[in-house]
Amino acid sequence: MKKRKILVLNGPNLNMLGVREPEIYGRRTYRDLVGTIEAYAKERGAFVTVFQSNSEAVLVTKIQRALGIYDGIILNPAAYTHTSVALLDAIKAVAIPTVEVHLSDVSEREEFRQVSYVRLAAVKTIMGLGFDGYLRAMDFLLDDVLWDDGGDA
Ligand code: DQA
Repeated sequence: MKKRKILVLNGPNLNMLGVREPEIYGRRTYRDLVGTIEAYAKERGAFVTVFQSNSEAVLVTKIQRALGIYDGIILNPAAYTHTSVALLDAIKAVAIPTVEVHLSDVSEREEFRQVSYVRLAAVKTIMGLGFDGYLRAMDFLLDDVLWDDGGDA
């Protein structure tokens, strides 16, 4: 099977992991997260790019530029989850299968976190599993969305 290319995008303040509200997000750093994702992609035989930005515009552009290059996207839009129609439209525009991931269980948190725009275009949402959520998202893309029987698709 063709080596799959996965783009992992992380939104605002995720670069602050380890420092940021450790009681919610844990003590492991953003660097640890990137290392965990890269090691797992290697194990799974996938090509992965991990990118973080605090800017909605930069994230939108990254999604647009994924077209024709990446087979799947794992997106933790962070606070933009709850506000961004632009990210939703970008995912719809490229039509690349996208899994929404959250480290925390947003369903158990504040009312304003109950809305997710990107969920409307996501093939799956995984929340509350910490770093493991990204790995399960990769499994889902590779095993349930992008699997094939030897063809080129
Ligand atoms: C988050 C949850 C969001 O509500 C929050 O704004 C974040 C992180 C998570 O991974 O749990 O920044 O996406």
